[in-house]
Amino acid sequence: MDPKAMYKLSYGLYVLSSEQGGRDAGCIINTAMQLTSSPNRISVTVNKQNHTHDVLRLKGEFNVSALTVDTPFELIERFGFRSGRDTDKFEGFSAFERAENGLTYITRYANSYISGRIINSVDLGTHTMFIADVTDCRLTGQADSLTYAYYQDNIKPKPQPAKKGAYRCTVCGYIYEGDELPADFICPICKHGADAFEKIS
Ligand SMILES: Cc1cc2nc3c(=O)[nH]c(=O)nc-3n(C[C@H](O)[C@H](O)[C@H](O)COP(=O)(O)O)c2cc1C
Repeated sequence: MDPKAMYKLSYGLYVLSSEQGGRDAGCIINTAMQLTSSPNRISVTVNKQNHTHDVLRLKGEFNVSALTVDTPFELIERFGFRSGRDTDKFEGFSAFERAENGLTYITRYANSYISGRIINSVDLGTHTMFIADVTDCRLTGQADSLTYAYYQDNIKPKPQPAKKGAYRCTVCGYIYEGDELPADFICPICKHGADAFEKIS
């Protein structure tokens, strides 16, 4: 079994938004999909630990904004790496408007939104799949939709290689790169031993 085969399923990336008690909420999801076209129904699958999960349960309505290929990591970070329990994700953020259902949708780095009214939910253990009637859907931009694969390859920051330590020979200035200078190390230039080296990073 190769778990990488799971990455070959093609997903989009979306901001799922809702509201509770006058407070806007939302998170990044890749699990929005159309279920049936007549009636028009979609599902979103949300981790039970997410603030947005509890908001959806109470509100019963949401919007899904489809993100585009030019989405900066900052937007993913804002909605996908923080919780609305701790911060107001809409504070200092102006790229949204309100749909007819009164809920936010993303106006920049998105090309459309779909409004859903929840009619059913499926308990999946860690997640809940919310099934909703589409009550409205609109095009809001021209750019191509962002896929999960494109996000992984082009938007998500690559982990930086751990910076290695370094030692300098106090006699000739030769730099040894490595976290630990071996006790029996001999400088290849001036042939002094490890005790002639100082740690510089
Ligand atoms: C690329 C990406 C895809 C994600 N997909 C989902 C998803 O499908 N369902 C989900 O519940 N969380 C998903 N998340 C995680 C939530 O966006 C994240 O946990 C968020 O901080 C929850 O915020 P909240 O607590 O305000 O709801 C995804 C995050 C990223 C970065």
